[in-house]
Amino acid sequence: MQASRFTHVHEDDLARADNSLAERLERGDILFFEPGVLTLPSDDDLEFLRVELGRLISLKNISYHPHGDYLSGIKADAATRGRTQRILREHNAAATALVERALPAYAGGWNLGKVNFRPLQERGRELSRHSSNELVHVDAFASGATHGGRTLRFFTNIHPTESRVWKSAGLFPDLFEEFGRRAGVLPLGTRGLRESALDHARTGVLRALERVGIPQARTVDSSPYDRAMKRMHDTLKDDDSFQKDESRWAFFEFKPFSSWMVLTDMVSHACVSGQHALVNTWTVPRESLTLPECAPYAVIEANSAGGR
Ligand SMILES: [Fe+2]
Repeated sequence: MQASRFTHVHEDDLARADNSLAERLERGDILFFEPGVLTLPSDDDLEFLRVELGRLISLKNISYHPHGDYLSGIKADAATRGRTQRILREHNAAATALVERALPAYAGGWNLGKVNFRPLQERGRELSRHSSNELVHVDAFASGATHGGRTLRFFTNIHPTESRVWKSAGLFPDLFEEFGRRAGVLPLGTRGLRESALDHARTGVLRALERVGIPQARTVDSSPYDRAMKRMHDTLKDDDSFQKDESRWAFFEFKPFSSWMVLTDMVSHACVSGQHALVNTWTVPRESLTLPECAPYAVIEANSAGGR
C-alpha cells in the first residue's frame, strides 16, 4: 500500500516555479511549509480568532466564501462578523499568493473555495459519523461539487503551542481497489462518470443563480463523480475494522504556525488532535493537472464501463 511522504518546501523549490511540487502533490505527498514562510494575520487578529470565535461557532466550521464575500457558521454581532471576514479575506489572499508560487500550473484555472477557521479542539468533538474529522476518510464535497476536479487544501496551525496531528491510512488508488466495490463505485455502472442531461441542467441553473447574486447556489451542485466520492467517504467512515486497523496508520505532526498542503481527495486523513486551524480550499480542474492519470477521476473512470 502506498503512503504519503512528507515533503518540506524550501525557498529554492518556490523559486524554481516549475511543476515539480505539483507532481509530488498529485502523487499524494503532503507539502510542508515551516513557520514564517506564510505571512500570518497579526498577533491581535490571531488572538481574536482563538479567544472570541470558539463560543460563536454555529456550524461545524466558521467559513468565509470568497466567491460571494460572505460568512457562514457564526452567530455574532456585525462588528465581530466584519472583523472575522476581513481576517479570513486577508488570509485567503496571503495563502493564495504562496500556493500560486508553489503550483504555478494551477493558478488562474482553479476555483476558489471557502476558507475555514476551526476554533474547537478536534479530539473528542463527537460530531456525527459522516461529519467527524476523527475518522479516516478521503474528502468529498469539501467545497461543493468538483465535477472531477481535485480538492486542494492548505492548512495552517495557528495554535500558539499545540501541534495538529493527523493520521493517514493510505492513498485513494489502494483504498478504491479495496473498498470501491462495497461503496458502489467499482465498477460505477454503464453510465460511468458521464453527466446526464439532468446533471447538466442542474449545474447550469445553479451557475446562473450564482451569476445573479446567489453565491450559495454552488454549494448544492452535484455530479456522478462527486456522488461516487461521497460514497467512498461514507464507506470508509462507516467501516469499524478499517478505522481501528492500526497497521495502516502513518502519523503526521504539524507544529504551531506551520502550514501544509494536500490533495485531500487522494490522501486519506483523520485529525487526531489539534485546535485553531485555518483551511483554504480550491478545486483544481483536470485540465490544469500535471499528472491527470493520478487523479481519482481517472482511477474511477479506468474501472467504469462508461466514460465521459
Ligand atoms: Fe477531510
